[in-house]
Amino acid sequence: MKANCWYDKHDMRVEEVPDPKVLDPRDAIIKITSTAICGSDLHIYNGFIPTMEKGDIVGHEFMGEVVEVGANVKNLSVGDRVVVPFPISCGNCFFCQRGLFSCCENSNPNAAMAEQMYGHAPCGIFGYSHMLGGFAGGQAEYARVPFADVGPIKIESNLTDDQVLFLSDIFPTGYMAAENCGIQPGDTIAVWGCGPVGLFAINSAYLLGAERVIAIDRFPERLRMASDKAKAETINYEEKDVFDTLKEMTGGRGPDACIDAVGMEGHAHGAVHVYDRVKQAMMSETGRPIALREAIIACRKGGTVSVPGVYGGILDKIPFGAVVNKALTIKSGQTHVQRYMRPLLERIQRGDIDPSYIITHHMPLDQAPEGYRIFCEKEDECIKVVLKP
Ligand SMILES: NC(=O)c1ccc[n+]([C@@H]2O[C@H](COP(=O)([O-])OP(=O)(O)OC[C@H]3O[C@@H](n4cnc5c(N)ncnc54)[C@H](O)[C@@H]3O)[C@@H](O)[C@H]2O)c1
Ligand SMILES: [Zn+2]
Ligand SMILES: [Zn+2]
Repeated sequence: MKANCWYDKHDMRVEEVPDPKVLDPRDAIIKITSTAICGSDLHIYNGFIPTMEKGDIVGHEFMGEVVEVGANVKNLSVGDRVVVPFPISCGNCFFCQRGLFSCCENSNPNAAMAEQMYGHAPCGIFGYSHMLGGFAGGQAEYARVPFADVGPIKIESNLTDDQVLFLSDIFPTGYMAAENCGIQPGDTIAVWGCGPVGLFAINSAYLLGAERVIAIDRFPERLRMASDKAKAETINYEEKDVFDTLKEMTGGRGPDACIDAVGMEGHAHGAVHVYDRVKQAMMSETGRPIALREAIIACRKGGTVSVPGVYGGILDKIPFGAVVNKALTIKSGQTHVQRYMRPLLERIQRGDIDPSYIITHHMPLDQAPEGYRIFCEKEDECIKVVLKP
């Protein structure tokens, strides 16, 4: 089959690789019909994710048709149309039973590698480094899906791939980010980043009852999408000071909750950015946490900072004193996608939201390397790329 493989920083190649096989009775093989490039994939593309190996198949947002099931997969049949969640989770362990699917204890065969870094290992994730299990990803014609009896959700309505594909990751991610804000009626939520995750965080904040959502970015097309399609008020951080503007917009108090939907590749101007770039290049910090710093400083006293943005290791100059002295709550996590797939599918079916609005580019799988490039460079007003194997 064909698959998109990582070779090096900015070096992705679509290659012929062996077809996946059922290795465990709980596996299924999926013939992929749609697969997307995530902001998290850009961290791999830009060389910031350790323990990638040349030839690794990437991609963790995918859906398709079941073509083979292991003997213990009773809930799926050949021919079923499914969306696959990006965390690989057993459904039975201490964490899965509590709905903490991305903390599953049974799906990461390389847990020891992650334990060195984090103390305890997260679950396995498709196409996301050896530290997170070394699983082949879904930017391919076929994928092996472990624990297929608990993960994939069947799509039985005639919703299109574009409408349901993002149940695999970014819609639940935006939703969990908003849910983690503990939104109360009347709340104002600020969202750093108007990429796919930020956009769904805005939508979800409104679905959960926020009165105002203020979104921050610098790309006009992203800010436009945030205001026109997601009804956020916007701040272009290249034109206005974010802290001062947020303060002004909230009567001096600050937003009730702040969402960092930017993550480890935050952008800024000036000395601080240079400092972070140098430290990140030297691996003496693993991320550029500009948005996280701003979110902590801007948040109102007693508020919540919710962090869906991905950070990998050690961060520098986090104003933790503000967390303590303003009595902030910080919530984060790789998304427990399995928890949200059913209720969010129901919201799509009811017409509360049509997640396909964020798609700017459809491309054949063959053009995946070009898709990564334009998404990374924000060329051609690219916001979300869907690949068709
Ligand atoms: N927690 C999870 O399970 C999970 C799942 C999916 C994605 N993510 C993470 O969410 C983050 C966003 O993903 P995405 O797909 O939307 O990526 P993206 O790269 O398309 O969007 C990031 C946006 O942040 C903006 N940005 C950069 N610096 C900024 C700053 N200082 N202030 C405000 N905005 C700034 C960029 O202009 C860009 O529009 C990534 O870190 C990704 O890894 C996490
Ligand atoms: Zn993702
Ligand atoms: Zn588990």
